[in-house]
Amino acid sequence: MKRNIKDLIKQMTLEEKAGLCSGLDAWRTKPVERLNIPSIMVSDGPHGLRKQDDSGNSSNDSIPAVCFPTACAYSCSFDRDLLEEMGKTIGDECQAEDVAVVLGPAVNIKRSPLCGRNFEYVSEDPYTAGELASAFIKGVQSKNIGTSIKHFAANNQEFRRLTVSSEVSERALREIYFPAFETAVKQSQPDTVMCSYNKINGVFSSENKRLLSEILRNEWGFKGFVMSDWGAVNDRIKGLEAGLDLEMPSSGGLTDAQIVNAVKEGTLDEKILDTSVVRLLRIIFKFHDKRQKGSFNKEAHHKLAVKIEEESIVLLKNESILPLSPHAKAAFIGGFAEKPRFQGGGSSHINAFKTVSFLSAAADFALEQSIKGKPVVFGYAKGFDAVTGEGSPEMTQEALALAQKSDVVVVFAGLPDTYECEGYDRNHLKLPESQNTLIQDLAKVNKNIVVVLHNGSPVEMDWADDVKGIVEAYLGGQGVGQAVCGILYGKVNPSGKLAETFPLRLEDTPSYLSFPGDGKKTVYSEDIFVGYRYYDARKIPVLFPFGHGLSYTTFSYSDLKLDKTILTDTDTLTISLKVKNTGTMNGKEVIQVYVRDKTGTIQRPEKELKNFEKIYLQSGEEKTVTMTLNKRSFAYYSEALGDWHAASGTYEILVGKSSQDIVLCKEITFKTSVKLPITITPNTNVSDILRYEGIPQLLEPVRERYNAMQGTSESAREAITKEMVDSMYNDTPLRSLQGLLGHDFKDFEDFLHRIRQICC
Ligand code: BGC
Repeated sequence: MKRNIKDLIKQMTLEEKAGLCSGLDAWRTKPVERLNIPSIMVSDGPHGLRKQDDSGNSSNDSIPAVCFPTACAYSCSFDRDLLEEMGKTIGDECQAEDVAVVLGPAVNIKRSPLCGRNFEYVSEDPYTAGELASAFIKGVQSKNIGTSIKHFAANNQEFRRLTVSSEVSERALREIYFPAFETAVKQSQPDTVMCSYNKINGVFSSENKRLLSEILRNEWGFKGFVMSDWGAVNDRIKGLEAGLDLEMPSSGGLTDAQIVNAVKEGTLDEKILDTSVVRLLRIIFKFHDKRQKGSFNKEAHHKLAVKIEEESIVLLKNESILPLSPHAKAAFIGGFAEKPRFQGGGSSHINAFKTVSFLSAAADFALEQSIKGKPVVFGYAKGFDAVTGEGSPEMTQEALALAQKSDVVVVFAGLPDTYECEGYDRNHLKLPESQNTLIQDLAKVNKNIVVVLHNGSPVEMDWADDVKGIVEAYLGGQGVGQAVCGILYGKVNPSGKLAETFPLRLEDTPSYLSFPGDGKKTVYSEDIFVGYRYYDARKIPVLFPFGHGLSYTTFSYSDLKLDKTILTDTDTLTISLKVKNTGTMNGKEVIQVYVRDKTGTIQRPEKELKNFEKIYLQSGEEKTVTMTLNKRSFAYYSEALGDWHAASGTYEILVGKSSQDIVLCKEITFKTSVKLPITITPNTNVSDILRYEGIPQLLEPVRERYNAMQGTSESAREAITKEMVDSMYNDTPLRSLQGLLGHDFKDFEDFLHRIRQICC
């Protein structure tokens, strides 16, 4: 239906316009009935539909829905198509339930494994987070349902999340904390963005004009509306001026009145209010005009939840113990086998319409096998309680007795709900002590131990060397039991890769000394060195690296080819390689492409992920995989330039099975036509200008005077080494060269002028 929003705004009263800028209740916008402006409903998200009933009350339970794997799990699929499919499915559910916007995806970077909400977030790597979030948004929005990518930005801890200031350098914001949002906006144009609670460098996100208008809209081209996180508004007028269109939830009329008064008193330009109303009306009508009523098939969506988890489970360790032989007598131990932990607490909590535990999936599998005349034998002991995570001496005894008479033991371990949740952070990375002890005790009575983990973020595993297999199921959604059963018995070949690093100890983590700050500020002192960027740079051994994940088959990579030897600012580089399934089982592999800067222009991470592709290969099959890179893949954010910059010089293209298993490498030359701005003053150092063409020649006479300092005798050369001369020369400020210039320059000013002509 065509309507003229500008005309509509002219008909709206000031009060109606102000009213549209805050919620009716916890989940809905206000209607303006006399003008046929409908109300729309928003719901969490992100891994399912958490629609609360029509009372608009936020404290009641939500409707029964499908709980898909949470972001910590699905990110390990590294599968854009799968994420798009999940988005489409959630979009269908929203259409059926009359929900206009799903509050997700949540893409905050996992700065520390301690953050209580990491289970909801995608990755420690901005490229991964951006690509997977974009795919999800594309899927949801293809069903004419909006998304709200959140929480913009630098919301990387729960401690004091409503007031803390994230103190972050511009470079770290641009390279680590913004790109997931930027990519999603540029590739998939989410209908809405949710601003975060916290401040960034002292300014609340909810009233940060640079963030919400200059960067989000002017630089990246965001067209939708910005809504606040629930209760994130500090100053409503400042927020509106900054570009915060919708305050959620309802303010009970308080801030609507503030807006009205500010316009009446002339302290707020009504045009600013009108702009927000236009943005809101566009999305409200977009939903209503394209409404597709219907219903959805919960069982079909459950199947997709299982499939996503199967593609996401990460096989961390396997010493020829998995897949389990159906003939082996198996002991399944641990409360999570019976009652899996498959999602986290807080606003993302879905009222799953059903849950399939591992034990019931294993019983179904056993039945299937017995029909084929191949009985599967297994026993179960609780070992510990799934709710508390704790065991008892009796439970331990029962578990040990079962383990002793079994061929193989699978322990279903993990974190109980209270260990990680929205609203607070963890303060350690440990499993409940009784689980650690149980695993170690079991390993003493049976050598064939596999541990399956149910957790939203990394845990320390002091027992890792004592067990033969480790399977990371994460918080895998309501079908986690079925998916784990498929993986353990080899019906499904694991193909997940970690989207975050598993450190050996909390003390090794990048933000260990600065997380979560002093209660007022949290200083991001590790800067751009987050996740694998940090462990790589510090050469700190980790338990399992970013990108790691095993398979039941093997893959070989060969024939890496680049379609260019020199790349410029506007070029696209196409890379290709062959991947072969050299094992006996069909399976999928995630091929990872990293870029290493060898130009030495500025401090950079050892390598950064810049593309990935997941492919399926039958046993013996070989495929050619093609991916592209462009200037941005090579660039860092130059604060001096206020833009992305790829310096001229050599880079390496690294292709790997994980961030620490690089199997192919090729060099490429980058040539930029962009000159970094430089200000030449008497205190500019020589080394800052030597890279400019013509400068070494210009300074040649001075350089010779420095060389002469070294003297010729052996003792003079011992006293002043060549290295010392080089270093003195490089570090010299231009002012110190005044006496050495000779007749080539009229005076020092002429010298500076000639340098400026070359460099600036
Ligand atoms: C969370 C958001 C969520 C909102 C609505 C907030 O507390 O931070 O992620 O979408 O509540 O439930």
